[in-house]
Amino acid sequence: MAQLDGVHRAWMRRNAWQICTLLGMTILSIPTTPFADQSPGTSGLRKRVSVFQQSHYLENYVQALFDVVWGENQSAAGQTLVLGGDGRFYNDVAIQTIIKMAAARGYARVLVGQHGWLSTPATSAVIRRRGASGGIVLSASHNPGGPDGDFGIKYNIANGGSAPERITEAVFARSQEISSYRMADSPDVPINRIGQFRVVDTAVEVIDSVEDHLAVLRACFDFDAMRQLFARGFRMRYDAMSAVGGPCARAILEAELGAPAGTVVNAEPLPDFGGHHPDPNPVHAQELVRHMMSDSAPDLGAASDGDADRNMILGRGFVVSPSDSLAVIAAWAHLLPGYKSGIRGVARSMPTSTAVDRVAKALNVPCFETPTGWKFFGNLLDAGEITLCGEESYGTSSDHVREKDGLWAILCWINLVAVTGKSVEELVRDLWRTHGRCFYSRHDYEGVDSGVANQLMQSLRERLPTLAGQVFAGRSILSADDFAYSDPVDGSTSERQGIRVLMDGARVVFRLSGTGTSGATLRVYLEQFEPEVTRHDMPLQEALAPLAQLAQEVAQIHTLTGRSAPSVIV
Ligand code: G1P
Ligand code: ZN
Repeated sequence: MAQLDGVHRAWMRRNAWQICTLLGMTILSIPTTPFADQSPGTSGLRKRVSVFQQSHYLENYVQALFDVVWGENQSAAGQTLVLGGDGRFYNDVAIQTIIKMAAARGYARVLVGQHGWLSTPATSAVIRRRGASGGIVLSASHNPGGPDGDFGIKYNIANGGSAPERITEAVFARSQEISSYRMADSPDVPINRIGQFRVVDTAVEVIDSVEDHLAVLRACFDFDAMRQLFARGFRMRYDAMSAVGGPCARAILEAELGAPAGTVVNAEPLPDFGGHHPDPNPVHAQELVRHMMSDSAPDLGAASDGDADRNMILGRGFVVSPSDSLAVIAAWAHLLPGYKSGIRGVARSMPTSTAVDRVAKALNVPCFETPTGWKFFGNLLDAGEITLCGEESYGTSSDHVREKDGLWAILCWINLVAVTGKSVEELVRDLWRTHGRCFYSRHDYEGVDSGVANQLMQSLRERLPTLAGQVFAGRSILSADDFAYSDPVDGSTSERQGIRVLMDGARVVFRLSGTGTSGATLRVYLEQFEPEVTRHDMPLQEALAPLAQLAQEVAQIHTLTGRSAPSVIV
């Protein structure tokens, strides 16, 4: 071919896939028809593995995603895509498909985590550190894996955070009209070893799956203080739940901080998470909880979920509620190197307890209340309005990435124990003494018929205007509303984000889960504020029993669903 000038070369790059298609080269254009169910939930598109295994299912979604991000039939020339997942069943197959589709789309580079592994916070770190235009996380988070489990796909934008609703909604809309997708007709890339490969014109780089994440974590914490803590005999157990958090936890805790080998248990990522539900809460991490309640309990217990963005913290014989964890970290953040000049503000999802609100007030920094889902924190973090954020669902993080970060939260606690000399329990009791205790629990009613669940929410919504002043289970309702959020940064609004029922010093919230893959889950969030120290030791569920009863009555849960008790309590 004759020599091309710069303009022509740029044009060729932009239109590479079209040219290849025209010339009948290695890009295939495959006819397809839409799937009606590709509407993403709270965190990406999640379905049973068998749904994703249908011919064209994943491909349709990825094509729709690329069409939205780059424009229909436009190339991603010059752009970098980060690609990885939590190692669950089908991860390896999906990775190969997406590499070929990214090549067909003309991406300059695709960075793939070795073995196809990149935890959600690691993906965020890689996107940010390497100036990628976005990334794809293949994960169904804490949902079970294996051939009969769940699979999921989520897109993160250039700031490293989950794509906002305007993008996810547009992807769904596009998925409903596509008629073909394109992919390179090329062999699989060997993703188990680090190296550089080429697929059509795309450089595919298999990268270490923990390095970038480690680098951002190093900037947040005092590794010397933590090393000395372990050297003084501090002991912990980290349950990685046979998920993708294991390799990073081992690299930091055992290799760098000197924790004894075996500190990280279930450290090998498995495609079916060893048959467990990789969700770090007292229900699914029972073994860890039992160990932490036993005589041989170490000083700290921790766990992370399938994609390692969630975390659970326990002290010796003591369970830390995620809402309290956020509040404790906020209260002491100035002792951590990455936050030594103080925090700008905090944010919590609406159902998360108000413990952090009181800390923020004492620190004189703003506290934002956002809808459920990490994506709502992105704008506040980008705009520098907040430094820390968290959710009751075992998610905590800061502005070091744009995702929740399990290991980050766990390192916060180790670092705080190291520099305050206080135990996990003492740190929480300090919080309660200073700010009062928020007794807090979530009651989930799982596997409810979707129609019934929607009817329950609808009925609550219709009765909202009449609830104030009514008495249920002996308590008078002060106000009730359906939470709506207006993003202070971009002005976007999100409505119908959960029903809030307020009493004096107490709150009950009702919403339906947006991450389930079958039926509906009604989530009921109970919170009772208790300023009186002498009552802080009341058993949690006992303290909340009156509110649980009130929730049953207000939402007519038993009448409508036939359920008189939740299926899961966390
Ligand atoms: C759940 C949690 C929510 C979290 C999301 C993704 O969503 O409640 O806080 O952001 O998982 O991890 P839900 O199923 O309630 O929609
Ligand atoms: Zn997760």
